[in-house]
Amino acid sequence: MLRWKMSTVTPNIVKQAVGRSHFKVSRRNNDWLGCWGHHMKSPGFRIIREHQKLNHFPGSFQIGRKDRLWRNVSKMQVRFGKKEFNFLPQSFILPQDIKLLRKAWEDCGSHQKWIVKPPASARGIGIQVIHKWNQLPKRRPLLVQRYLHKPYLIGGSKFDLRIYVYVTCYDPLRIYLFKDGLVRFASCKYSSSMKSLNNKYMHLTNYSINKKNVEYKANTDETACQGHKWALKALWSYLNQKGVDSEAIWEKIKDIVVKTIIASEPYITNLVKLYVRRPYCCHELFGFDVMLDENLKPWILEVNISPSLHSNSPLDVSIKGQMVRDVLNLAGFTLPNADDVASSSGSNSSTASLNTALKEKSRPSLELFTAEKTKKAYYLTQKVSDHEFYSTILDILTPDDVRVLIETEDEFARRGQFERIFPSRVSMRYLRFFEQLRYFNILVAQWELKYFSNRTKGVDLLRSWCYRGYHNGIVTDTTMMWTLPRTQVYLKNDFVLNGMSKVESGRISKALVQRDEEESSRSPETTTATQSLPLIKYAAGTLKKGTVPQAFSNSSLVK
Ligand SMILES: Nc1ncnc2c1ncn2[C@@H]1O[C@H](COP(=O)(O)OP(=O)(O)O)[C@@H](O)[C@H]1O
Ligand SMILES: [Mg+2]
Repeated sequence: MLRWKMSTVTPNIVKQAVGRSHFKVSRRNNDWLGCWGHHMKSPGFRIIREHQKLNHFPGSFQIGRKDRLWRNVSKMQVRFGKKEFNFLPQSFILPQDIKLLRKAWEDCGSHQKWIVKPPASARGIGIQVIHKWNQLPKRRPLLVQRYLHKPYLIGGSKFDLRIYVYVTCYDPLRIYLFKDGLVRFASCKYSSSMKSLNNKYMHLTNYSINKKNVEYKANTDETACQGHKWALKALWSYLNQKGVDSEAIWEKIKDIVVKTIIASEPYITNLVKLYVRRPYCCHELFGFDVMLDENLKPWILEVNISPSLHSNSPLDVSIKGQMVRDVLNLAGFTLPNADDVASSSGSNSSTASLNTALKEKSRPSLELFTAEKTKKAYYLTQKVSDHEFYSTILDILTPDDVRVLIETEDEFARRGQFERIFPSRVSMRYLRFFEQLRYFNILVAQWELKYFSNRTKGVDLLRSWCYRGYHNGIVTDTTMMWTLPRTQVYLKNDFVLNGMSKVESGRISKALVQRDEEESSRSPETTTATQSLPLIKYAAGTLKKGTVPQAFSNSSLVK
């Protein structure tokens, strides 16, 4: 049953990891569990079955294309200010922004350099650094970006960082950052002279460009600071030796990565709800290009939705190999029942029968279902949203809450060398950046705040609920049933004793109606699948059951 769907774009390092973990190549459409393939147009995601996982989210081009990335991040800059969102060099999208560019160009004078990029290309193709208006290419569309002309230099050369960011779920949002990465050097020493702007080996740091330079020096040793490619960890040691606080840079990188992913969140979450049967079906590895300026401030240059996993040097094999292994473990592939797969092989009607079966197994009582819905609406509609209020979300958990928390903790336990950056103990401060506040983001952020320093306590609590079957809603314990609070609730303009004001309850019922409408407008597959998300996985009451966490062993990658 461990079947993998190969695609023409599946990197060798992924093929090797899955092959050595006993996956067999699938020749059919319905029996595979995983695929590392092309990005698809959003409606294409409909064909992914409940037990299958593809390495993309619909709509991830909202940060994966350079023009969309700029539009989305600059929108955040307008809403929340430059202090929070000034980490992407100012850009203009042509033809639309031509007048704005002209003005900025005149304001800066002729000493300013600009970098011109095709909006959806890669590997340095079509990129030029210019400083005269007449050097602007005539072809459109085009992204024109302020050139960071004072990069931090090492040995006189410019470099950028390839940071690996893995998102396992958008609602609740879970983001991981790989602790290692690659540092890619330009193969010609940097000069700020206008005369050298044409020299791509000086201004671009892409490996695919610089490998063509006869001066390019490979590096086989991941601990060594030599040649034109280093391990990220080697860079941190190098900087630490120079007295630089590399931890502080890493913290800044985490902050800008989280904010960039949040900028894509409204699109992706909505498309997942529309086109994907279960949140389980999507995950994505992003490659962030980050550059440090002379003050060691990190800037995001672009986000890649298919970061290169080519590994033609021992350094690449070591870093990307460990990273891919950890990604595949984090992905938590789950074995479905063979019957379910067989019944989902044909038309939509048989898919519906699978869903019905799943639903039957997991259907909570009507009372519980209402409690879950009311609780969600309650936390999303209160005007007073301080820490004290949000912390009460953990007082009584619904089965739905417990399932999401189990999935979150279980995944965290499989993180390998990835660091989880959202949710984290500081995530509450990011909630205001979401276009729409989401209940599960509040829940997991509060959970993390409470248990990050004593995770065992939290996990033990979840485990005890699992043993009692509380997570699947079958065991109903009235003392644990969430009801609207009877305590004082202070609102901005009025305060209420013993429950809620009319205004308040009106708002909640309105939210409930809206939710119902939203859910009934979704395809039946999506709705059932969402409700039954982690049930099979944890039904046996153990946190690890059903996943294959040990399958992708490191030793299988090291030759
Ligand atoms: N704003 C900028 N300032 C300075 N250098 C840049 C800037 N943008 C890109 N570069 C350089 O050009 C390279 C390629 O740009 P990037 O946006 O990553 O496009 P591509 O998709 O072709 O890799 C980067 O790796 C970096 O070395
Ligand atoms: Mg790049």
